[in-house]
Amino acid sequence: MNNTNILKRLKNKKVGVLYGGFSSERKISILSGKNILKTLKKLKVNVCGIDVDKNIVEKIKKERIDIAYIALHGSKGENGAIQGMLEMMDISYTGCGIFASSISIDKDTSKKFFKYMNILTPDWKTLKDFEIVPKIKKYPVIVKPASQGSALGITIVKNAFQLASAVKKAFKYDKKIIIEKFITGKEITVGVLNGKVLPVVEIVPKREFYDFKSKYQNGGSKHIIPAGISHNAYKIAQNYAEKIYKDLKCKSICRVDMIVDKNNKVWVLENNTIPGMTKTSLIPDASKVAGYNFESLVLKILESVFHK
Ligand SMILES: Nc1ncnc2c1ncn2[C@@H]1O[C@H](COP(=O)(O)OP(=O)(O)O)[C@@H](O)[C@H]1O
Ligand SMILES: [Mg+2]
Repeated sequence: MNNTNILKRLKNKKVGVLYGGFSSERKISILSGKNILKTLKKLKVNVCGIDVDKNIVEKIKKERIDIAYIALHGSKGENGAIQGMLEMMDISYTGCGIFASSISIDKDTSKKFFKYMNILTPDWKTLKDFEIVPKIKKYPVIVKPASQGSALGITIVKNAFQLASAVKKAFKYDKKIIIEKFITGKEITVGVLNGKVLPVVEIVPKREFYDFKSKYQNGGSKHIIPAGISHNAYKIAQNYAEKIYKDLKCKSICRVDMIVDKNNKVWVLENNTIPGMTKTSLIPDASKVAGYNFESLVLKILESVFHK
């Protein structure tokens, strides 16, 4: 559908942009949400913004929305909880459903799926609360909370002495953490929009890795599109992203983070089911190169509620 057709279908519908929420990515979600809200207002869509809290059901009922545009990041906004709630309320929503959301939010579980799908993912160990920190033979490793985004709670660990404090930090964010092999190489990310793969983005952060500041500070990182990687790695990366979209039954949009090592091997780190829509986010830039400006991107994501 083109923009005019999507706008026509939205004519008698009220859209609520859901943002905020309880996760540690609340502030980023507000940035994504307000950006989307402003765009839909400009397009004259009947739209309102809803800050998600414990009274979300009452707020939705009061606003009488027909469609929820989910702009939440992390925890209950991205793990299937709000998606399940909306299904119970019989309200259509943008983005992935319960299945894709609940698997993708957990890096440990999703890496198990990647392995099963024959998709390369760096070796890792999983640690649950109160377990003894295992002996790590090779450094560097990267320690991450299993279900957290925006690089919060992540540390690159270069030797055994640094491990305990990194583990402690990651546990502040989650009851389950992973200790993953660090892959040196070019960082890339690949979006899939309504089943169509987007150009591969290469991320060049100014800092040691693509951490919180590199993600959201103006000029914190450079996005090179199309990514400067070999033709072969480019194709593999796009195939991986398409396979993940399909096999995890994603909808609307997803974005798969990967690293290409010096041998041109492509390693998948994680799948994001509600990628950022802020001014410094990756999907808006990749979409632009694919021919969709921010308005078209927002409408394309909205269009997916009319797909079966
Ligand atoms: N195994 C790894 N090797 C090298 N760098 C990594 C690895 N895992 C994560 N990183 C770096 O940390 C960033 C955040 O990790 P990621 O797994 O994408 O979690 P999230 O984006 O959900 O916080 C990545 O974008 C990358 O810069
Ligand atoms: Mg990531």
